[in-house]
Amino acid sequence: MQAKAREVYVPPVLQDLRAGTAELHIALEKRLPFFSEQLDANAFRRLMQAYYGFYRPLESALLASACIPADFDIAPRLKTPTLQRDLHALGESPEGLEHLPLCRQLPVIESSAACLGVLYVLEGATLGGQILRREIATRLSLDADNGAAFLDVYGAATGRRWRDFIEYLGARLMDVAERAAVVAAAQTTFSCFERWLESREVLA
Ligand code: HEM
Repeated sequence: MQAKAREVYVPPVLQDLRAGTAELHIALEKRLPFFSEQLDANAFRRLMQAYYGFYRPLESALLASACIPADFDIAPRLKTPTLQRDLHALGESPEGLEHLPLCRQLPVIESSAACLGVLYVLEGATLGGQILRREIATRLSLDADNGAAFLDVYGAATGRRWRDFIEYLGARLMDVAERAAVVAAAQTTFSCFERWLESREVLA
């Protein structure tokens, strides 16, 4: 008897997230300048300043929301410290860092569902980072030691951390309304990020 191909179980919330954000991901990916001929060290620094201007207030909002599920450990997943280190390595002074513009139009985080939707986007972005890290290392000779650690923020643990997150998400009991709230927050996170990057004039 022929062995049946092993089917990978995709929890409903992840199916909804993928269906609900695929287009937003494609649209943003197309406009990000990581593969642009014009991307030099200076443009990369401006791009990372813009990332910082979004991640810092968004991670602060997550922490201040009191909506992070009690059994979810967010501390090792915070990426602002890595962005800060990168910007220092790229020549930003501590004073300069404190004066960088920060995004004020952020997703509303009023439930654990919204919190998980935001986290889905921030965690998923580490997967693409693996491709971007190689490009930036080749093109600009920047890596984890001299200004591009954010693109490899979880290093060799990237896949495992993503699987852990997905497992956590899939194991949570959620009704249809909660699943919809997770997806809505993920969509808003993508659109707020794109609008912010656009306003910082770092998109193609
Ligand atoms: C040029 C930039 C980017 C590239 C090339 C890229 C590429 C990728 C790739 C290859 C994957 C993995 C697909 C898979 O393994 O099935 C992925 C997943 C993902 N990316 Fe991106 N990405 C980029 C930017 C971003 C940004 C800026 C965000 C959000 C801020 C983001 C959010 C996500 C999410 C949430 C997933 C998980 C999708 C899933 O499997 O459920 N990506 N990306």
